[in-house]
Parts: sequence; structure tokens; C-alpha cells
Amino acid sequence: MIIVPGSSNGPLAYRVAKLTGARLAKVEYRRFPDGEKYVRVLDDVGGEDAVFLQSAALSPDEYLVETFLASDALKDLGARSVTVVLSYFPYARQDERFKPGEAVSLVTVSKLLRSAGADRLVTVDVHRHRVLDMSKLVGIPYVDASAMPLLARYAADAGLVDPGRTVVVGPDAEAEQWAELAARELGAEHAALVKTRLGDREVKVSVTRGVDVRGRDVLLVDDIISTGGTIREASKLLAGLGARRIVVGVTHALLVENALEKILEDGVEEVFSSDTVPNQTTRVSAAPAIAGALRSLGLAGG
Ligand code: R5P
Repeated sequence: MIIVPGSSNGPLAYRVAKLTGARLAKVEYRRFPDGEKYVRVLDDVGGEDAVFLQSAALSPDEYLVETFLASDALKDLGARSVTVVLSYFPYARQDERFKPGEAVSLVTVSKLLRSAGADRLVTVDVHRHRVLDMSKLVGIPYVDASAMPLLARYAADAGLVDPGRTVVVGPDAEAEQWAELAARELGAEHAALVKTRLGDREVKVSVTRGVDVRGRDVLLVDDIISTGGTIREASKLLAGLGARRIVVGVTHALLVENALEKILEDGVEEVFSSDTVPNQTTRVSAAPAIAGALRSLGLAGG
């Protein structure tokens, strides 16, 4: 197996290569004077199981085009198989036509990946609301790995929460799956709030069933922080319900428009995230989860 890094996240590709004992390929990326992308794989990938790793966050168009160019090239250069790891899978949130005429980007990107030569796909905590299982959409063997247990373990080991008095909370119904995974790691309880999205930046969060956080540590978990609107509304609500302390763990910390500053100003004690989107909140590597997914697909030493 050979790991081929996209230009978005070399360190994560390196960590996956190290964990799996795979070779790390060298690739040249540059732009032509007119802005188009140039990709050149410098290693011989003939007969190899090539794993192309990209975190297509924050510059999704650029990284997706690179992904399409690289997967097609790897196939053409004789790789035995091409596995695409999109450790941040972009365009997943438009998973439905909410208004007439809208493009459904999740469906389009899934189709393009397959037609660009991907034989398998790995994602990490992909946005899963209305489309709960992307396997049918992508139509190739697919694993969504989770960084949630790793994030939960970090929170406990770093002393951010006391597992015995912790409730893991998802800010909306869809995040209950993440809360459950994290809670299982800690042997803690979990709960979910209810969210209504009012616009790109604005949400309303409420409680419907009994969520007892009074005097307890709250580990608030989600797949993505983008503008921070969701986490801010959820943490204000939880503070109002008497939480002793609120810490936030997310897989993909996009943190646009000063989201981190706003969340911390609202009284959240700590925000930590995985290295799918490396920044000042990164504390945990998703590499073990990705390596596990590769193994489950029959790669990385079985
Ligand atoms: C969508 O519902 C996701 O699970 C996140 O809750 C959402 O993307 C966060 O976006 P924002 O930080 O802008 O509220």
C-alpha cells in the first residue's frame, strides 16, 4: 500500500502512513499561470494499492479538483486499486433540494469520485443528516470512520471532564449518534438537543426531553463547527440548565468568521478537535480511525 498525500493535510497522511507501515509517496502540486491545478505523482505506483488522502475543507473546490486529478492519474499510472480518503468530505451538508432548482452537492460529489477512478472511499464523521448511509450514493465499498471515541478519550485523559459526572450532549438530533459513540467510550450518559436552522449562520436550539445537566460536566460534541452558531446556542442553553462546565469536542473544526473566539467568549471552557482540519484547537489525530477503516477494507495489512 502506498499513501499519496493531497496538498491539504500532509501531516495526517504522514501519520496514517506511519501507523499502517505504508510508503508515503511524493507528489508535486502547483498551479499553472492561469490558476489551473497541476498534479504529478513522483513515485512508481504500478501494482500498488494507492490511498489518496485529502482533507477537503475550507478550499473545497481546489482540493476536490486535486482529488479527481490524482485518483484518475493513479489509476492510469497502473495502481492496482485507488482508495480515496476524504478525511473532511466537503459539500455533504447540501444533501437534499431544500428549495426548487438547487444543486444537491452531496450526490454530485459522490458521483464524481466514482467516475474519477476511486475504488473505495473512506471518510471521517461525514455529515449525516437526511442521508444516513452514503454507501448507495457512492456505489463503491465505503467506510465512515469516527474520531468521536478518540476525542472522548482525550477529554477524559486531559482532565477536561470527569467521566463519572459527565453527560455527553449532541446539539441536534443528528448529533445523537456522535454523542452516543463518545459516551460509550467514557461509560457516561448521553443526550441530544433539538435544533432548527434559520439561516446559514443562525440556529435555534431547544430541549424537548429531560436533559439533566445540573451540576454536571458537559462534553458537547458535533461533527463540524463552521460559524459556531450551533455550538454557541447549545452551550448557552446548557449553561442556563445549570451545567457545571462545558467543553466542546468536534471532529472538523472549520472555525469560520472568528467562531472560536465567539464560543469561548460565551463561556465554553475548552474547544478541541481532530487533525482533519488542523488548527489551534487540534489535540487528537484521526489517523488511528483512518488506519482502522483501511484495515476493514482489506488494506493496511488486513
Ligand atoms: C450540521 O447540522 C452540522 O452537524 C453542524 O451542526 C453544523 O455544520 C455546524 O455549523 P455552524 O457552526 O455554522 O452552526
